[in-house]
Amino acid sequence: MHRAVGAERPAVIAIRPATPGDLDALLRLYVQLSAGNAATDPARTANAFAAMLRTPNLHLLVATVGELVVGTVTVVIVPNLTHNATPWAQLENMVVDETRRGKGVGQQLLRAAVDLAWEAGCYKVQLQSANEREDAHRFYAAFGFAPSSVGFRLYR
Ligand SMILES: CC(C)(COP(=O)(O)OP(=O)(O)OC[C@H]1O[C@@H](n2cnc3c(N)ncnc32)[C@H](O)[C@@H]1OP(=O)(O)O)[C@@H](O)C(=O)NCCC(=O)NCCS
Repeated sequence: MHRAVGAERPAVIAIRPATPGDLDALLRLYVQLSAGNAATDPARTANAFAAMLRTPNLHLLVATVGELVVGTVTVVIVPNLTHNATPWAQLENMVVDETRRGKGVGQQLLRAAVDLAWEAGCYKVQLQSANEREDAHRFYAAFGFAPSSVGFRLYR
């Protein structure tokens, strides 16, 4: 998958699966998602990234402007026994570089993630977003996501 998007917006972006050379750019974006995401163990981080890239049902997408990675989202396709054994998709770790927000990058990334899920045969796409991220909630709602369930989390 490699598609040029964003024609009507200022930024001309492309969306593609992440490759091994994207690690540093991804880590810079994840710190913008939460300062607590700073990677403190390079070997552990590299191992996790390699595992993600070889996991068949996990799709780590990046949005690029030229060679620059400006956004990302992770899509996990979950095999399933309900809904006549139809898979579903979970989105996680969606972030656009803080200097590029409000220009349609996020919308196009989300479109690519949802398209990927539909192409994989999923019957739904879901995501969690922390209560305080009201801007992000507006962004997802504008796309068509409905806040239709209550999320529960148990942190270790
Ligand atoms: C939420 C986010 C991914 C949206 O990406 P984006 O590229 O800014 O989104 P788009 O430009 O496609 O759409 C912008 C819309 O999202 C909303 N929005 C949310 N956060 C915004 C921000 N920081 N700046 C501008 N618009 C923002 C606006 O309402 C805007 O709607 P409009 O186009 O009708 O004005 C991005 O703002 C971001 O990375 N935020 C911080 C991390 C985060 O909250 N991630 C989601 C975790 S669940």
